[in-house]
Amino acid sequence: MPLIIIFVECGIELIPQNLEKFSSIRRKLSSQNYSTLILDNALHHSAMRILKNFEKRGRPDIAHICLLNALGSILNKKGYLKIYIHTINNRIFEINPVIRIAKNYNRFKGLMGKLLIDGAIKSENEYLISQFEGDLEKLISSFEKPEVLLFSRKGKQIKNFNDLFNNDIDKNYIAIIGGFQKGSFSKEIMKLSENLVSISKYPLEAWIVTCKIISFYEIFNKIE
Ligand SMILES: C[S@@+](CC[C@H](N)C(=O)[O-])C[C@H]1O[C@@H](n2cnc3c(N)ncnc32)[C@H](O)[C@@H]1O
Repeated sequence: MPLIIIFVECGIELIPQNLEKFSSIRRKLSSQNYSTLILDNALHHSAMRILKNFEKRGRPDIAHICLLNALGSILNKKGYLKIYIHTINNRIFEINPVIRIAKNYNRFKGLMGKLLIDGAIKSENEYLISQFEGDLEKLISSFEKPEVLLFSRKGKQIKNFNDLFNNDIDKNYIAIIGGFQKGSFSKEIMKLSENLVSISKYPLEAWIVTCKIISFYEIFNKIE
């Protein structure tokens, strides 16, 4: 069975209309350049303070690094990884494992801008990123025997990575990792599972958690 990773509440969104009143933001918007349309905390930090929940928003860099790590893994190359991105505005995207994500951050933002506007990224003959029509509950229930693990520093700390997965090969393990900088999972995310797992006493970056889970899953299932 593949490992399923969902990066939740990722800070990827188009610049909200109410920020366009700031001339410093408005001047740089260009419909010809998708990357300028994406909210980015590094560029829009002071204006973003008027936004609700601003600490979780404007961080496409987190999803970028997580995706580069996950897509480059042996698990993905062998076809045992399914990746989804859930955004702060509750849109869910499925990432085709063959996609080659630009390592350049601006090009990645451009890709995200086009994705949010068009709803998909296509190559000549296949979807590289497609939108899942539904919410996280619907996505989870689309898998047979889902076992949802919510990764959080506030969870029950595992002593050994072997405690994470058991040998039930019929189960679909779904690892949920926050794609945001600060704060905790929203109430909606917390409702998805009672299995809140901490892998360290330290607060870790989302991409470190991603790498550790994937590496362990590879070792546990002898995927090399
Ligand atoms: C930068 S953190 C989000 C900030 C938040 N203060 C936190 O530590 O959860 C990004 C994500 O990494 C995961 N994470 C961070 N530290 C973790 C830990 N010690 N154990 C398990 N997951 C962790 C969680 O999924 C979290 O949402």
